[in-house]
Amino acid sequence: MSDSTYAPISGHLDDVEEAREEGRRKMDWALQHMPILQELREQFAESKPFDGQVIGMAMHVEAKTANLVELLALGGAEVAITGCNPLSTHDDVSAALDANDSITSYAKRGVDEDEYYEAMHAVVSHEPTVTVDDGMDLVYLVHEEYPELIDTILGGAEETTTGVHRLRAMDEDGELNYPVFAVNDTPMKRLFDNVHGTGESSLANIAMTTNLSWASKNVVVAGYGYCGKGVAKKAAGQNANVIVTEVEPRRALEAHMEGYDVMPMNEAAEVGDVFLTTTGNRDVITREDFEKMQDGAVLANAGHFDIEIDLDALSDLAVDEYEARDGVDAYEMEDGRRINVLAEGRLVNLASPIALGHPVEVMDQSFGVQAVCVRELVENGDEYDAGVHDVPDELDVEVAEIKLDAEGVDIDTLTETQEEYMNSWSHGT
Ligand code: NAI
Repeated sequence: MSDSTYAPISGHLDDVEEAREEGRRKMDWALQHMPILQELREQFAESKPFDGQVIGMAMHVEAKTANLVELLALGGAEVAITGCNPLSTHDDVSAALDANDSITSYAKRGVDEDEYYEAMHAVVSHEPTVTVDDGMDLVYLVHEEYPELIDTILGGAEETTTGVHRLRAMDEDGELNYPVFAVNDTPMKRLFDNVHGTGESSLANIAMTTNLSWASKNVVVAGYGYCGKGVAKKAAGQNANVIVTEVEPRRALEAHMEGYDVMPMNEAAEVGDVFLTTTGNRDVITREDFEKMQDGAVLANAGHFDIEIDLDALSDLAVDEYEARDGVDAYEMEDGRRINVLAEGRLVNLASPIALGHPVEVMDQSFGVQAVCVRELVENGDEYDAGVHDVPDELDVEVAEIKLDAEGVDIDTLTETQEEYMNSWSHGT
């Protein structure tokens, strides 16, 4: 078992009280706009579904996530959390969480690689019975270094596309030894968080970080998946000319039929003003592309890991590197062209200096699904074999109904005849 001595956030800050107060203010603001978590707070405070459970989490520690963490604690759990990206933690929010007797937060912004993993080990030292990940780091660590914990782990929940990809690959190799819900893949998460959340927050962050307009810019969106679609639509809505790059023929065709220009990255490199990668893949923008880019090109990534833009190659090409603005690193080429990279190539909507992550309402949905998944694992975990599981549809629908109710939106209900018709194969003309 881990004998980690890594200190929680409170031990790293000079003025802990002030940080806690500011973090609490941010959490309170977010919670006002999270009707799903509010409803679940009432339910969980009453029923205490997590009594006796220890929940280990690795997520982006900011105000919205903090409300999920507190909801789990309110439901009776002991929670230990750290960040899932070295730059996305808000220290004040982390400190506010750490002030709760049932929560230990190790998350700290700007940690180096060693500290990042030390904090991860510290979370595992609490011996979690449930893991909640954004990117699969905890599941990986438990399997690699603490397999003795697996017997007592009821299961896990995974937030993002890249984490689910990694988990499915692990499952296919027969190496995933406890059940994990693919929270990312639910309609209530993916159709809103990936599409609207990534679209709005990435574009807002790029605009605020650069102080530049979208109007008339050539915006190159790499990857036309859920995130790419949101980015493309919202960039077009702000009068940008959208260019899509893809490797999957049907997605490329979808983008083409949507009216966007579709071309290989090496061609887009010549005309793009702003580039945003959303592929979840590596080496999407490389040396051959940097060589063709115009002076002043702006590059950002919204995919989970910082491997979509080949920054080593860019650095090799550069004769000078400097901070052009807060959150903007300029790489100057021998011929004088400047290529600008935002947030060190990490998720721009979460890791840039002014990043706030997705809009609150969107994360209310994603975290509502996380919360009911943890409840399901605690209540019925033994019904799930080791491996990746789709979230049961009724849980996703439960969260949608709470949200519709909060929004005051009524919908129709199938009549018995309609239901019978929809389930029948024997009817014809
Ligand atoms: P997705 O699988 O729906 O879409 C990815 C697309 O990229 C696919 O259409 C794929 O064909 C394409 N692609 C793969 N390699 C490519 C290449 N070399 N060039 C061009 N296109 C390529 O995945 P989704 O849900 O859109 O997620 C994408 C990434 O964003 C993942 O890493 C995910 O974890 C992350 N993510 C980030 C969020 C944020 O807040 N920034 C929120 C949600 C997801």
